[in-house]
Amino acid sequence: MKKRVVSGIRPTGRLHLGHLHGALLNWKKLQDKYNCFYFIADWHALTSEYTRPEIIKKSTMDIILDWLAVGLDPEKCTFFVQSQIKEHAELHLIFSMITPIPWLERNPTYKEQIQELSSKNLNTYGFLGYPVLQAADILMYKADAVPVGEDQAPHIELTREIARRFNFLYKKVFPEPETLLTPTSKLLGIDRRKMSKSYNNAIFITEPPEEVSKKVSQMITDPQRGRRTDPGRPDFCNIFFYHEIYTSQEKVKEIEEACKKAKIGCVECKKIMAENLNKGLEPIREKRKELESRMDYIENIINEGNRKARDIAQKTMAEVKEAIGI
Ligand code: TRP
Ligand code: SF4
Repeated sequence: MKKRVVSGIRPTGRLHLGHLHGALLNWKKLQDKYNCFYFIADWHALTSEYTRPEIIKKSTMDIILDWLAVGLDPEKCTFFVQSQIKEHAELHLIFSMITPIPWLERNPTYKEQIQELSSKNLNTYGFLGYPVLQAADILMYKADAVPVGEDQAPHIELTREIARRFNFLYKKVFPEPETLLTPTSKLLGIDRRKMSKSYNNAIFITEPPEEVSKKVSQMITDPQRGRRTDPGRPDFCNIFFYHEIYTSQEKVKEIEEACKKAKIGCVECKKIMAENLNKGLEPIREKRKELESRMDYIENIINEGNRKARDIAQKTMAEVKEAIGI
């Protein structure tokens, strides 16, 4: 029996290269070894986007298309939409009864997000309970492991605490899932900050080639390389990190040397990178285009995934009710 993996993405926009290299390619690797459940966390998106819910519906389809386009395989994974499985709300409610408020208030991700997203009013009951809903997502399927980035690790720890507390209070229903830490993507946004839609610095997975080239040409390189004659430091250059992924090893070596000796200029270096990046993304774009013309097929995949997820969720909820005795 393969172990079960559960992970989700909040549908708050199109996916970018940070998602591709920080999550999706890892998900893809896992699909051969684990029984994977990947879902759209649309209720989680609503905790921060409740004033513009339109974005949620639209990005849900976009993201599922991107998943398939990068090679996540519906034969190997179960894809579903959180809000289509009402049991998540029910389990969230039950967990909310047994989760002490201080566990939530001391959550570092919570504190950070409240600060970072200060333009939104996140001082809500739902946002504080975000990790309780996440615990419901994970424990519903009795996941063995959850692949997430470092920022989400406290949420998985909290999930384990909630599982332990439930098992202690009532009956052992839930296993404690392990965190599968995904290394953070080295690829920064065009302004050298972490790639993020809200910073407006992202390159999207299915962006047209001209757009990609334009964004690459705007990218900030090694800040110490002010003039063409200044030697560069590839280890400090975001363009170089992209080369390491998208350019052939031989050529990478060549660029590294040339950069250090100021034998290549950033304009040319970026041109080569943009070309290779576009080559790397081309198969994804093509697959995505093909999928867009088969929306019935996509709907089928989602319906089938929802059905499978709901089946498991109903079984778990029966056990939960039996354990509590109501
Ligand atoms: N909170 C996660 C994020 O922002 C998304 C998420 C929701 C999730 N439920 C989950 C991830 C369950 C893993 C498992 O990235
Ligand atoms: Fe970066 Fe390339 Fe310029 Fe070197 S030549 S600083 S690697 S963009």
